[in-house]
Amino acid sequence: MSESTPLVTGVIVVAAGSGQRLGYGMPKAAVPLGGEPILMHALRGIVASGVASQVCVVLPAGDEGLRRLCGDFREELADGGPLLTLVDGGATRADSVRAGMAALMEGTDAVLVHDAARALTPESVFHRVAEALAAGAAAVIPVLPVVDTVKTVAATSGEDSMFAPEVVTGTARREELRAVQTPQGFKLDTLVQAHRAAGGLDRQQSAAVTDDAMLVEMLGTPVYAVRGSTQSLKITTPLDLIFAEGLLEGPLGARWVEG
Ligand code: C5P
Repeated sequence: MSESTPLVTGVIVVAAGSGQRLGYGMPKAAVPLGGEPILMHALRGIVASGVASQVCVVLPAGDEGLRRLCGDFREELADGGPLLTLVDGGATRADSVRAGMAALMEGTDAVLVHDAARALTPESVFHRVAEALAAGAAAVIPVLPVVDTVKTVAATSGEDSMFAPEVVTGTARREELRAVQTPQGFKLDTLVQAHRAAGGLDRQQSAAVTDDAMLVEMLGTPVYAVRGSTQSLKITTPLDLIFAEGLLEGPLGARWVEG
């Protein structure tokens, strides 16, 4: 496909997680950030990027509050904006992605899968992912270099356990490591094939699948990496929420955007 070929792109926003680690007693997507639910920030960012013909929001099954919120947002969208589709999520993130894929409109060429929890992802990241797909990549992910040294560990047993609960088994080569973000972009047929193949995984293997790119890697299809953004942090813990609030309201101010 040539560089100039426009792709009909659907963005699946997975927002069906429980958000237990955030500890608000409500789905994470509904937790307020800068006075608005986390999900609204994510949706505004996607729409502003202009990459989506359709935005498919995957919500916790039966959550009327988030459904209403999305309904109001649909009315806010100007004519000519993306189609906004709402679907119920599943038990795992992969189930939620599959529910989103099933609701993509006919003629969709490419799909971006985005965590609602990465609510402050700058437009530039959406553009880099979409541009790599338009240039011919079948799979592309945004990444950042890892600043920490990363080690592997195993549980100690016997006499060792007197020193500590874990012992180091190795050190990864930091220059080869990347921290992976969303949106992850795929040609639709590649993602469909990857999820179909995932049906053959056993329970333990399925539990180890933490992103969509992993499933594409298993097909042997190359997954390309573009630059992500520190602003695209995944709001998971209360401390992440403080960082995100700081990005919106702190000394750097709402205008601060890290490309
Ligand atoms: O649990 P984790 O932090 O990996 O979730 C990443 C994203 O996947 C979140 O945006 C969450 O709402 C979504 N998710 C989902 N359905 C699930 C589990 C997680 O849509 N069953």
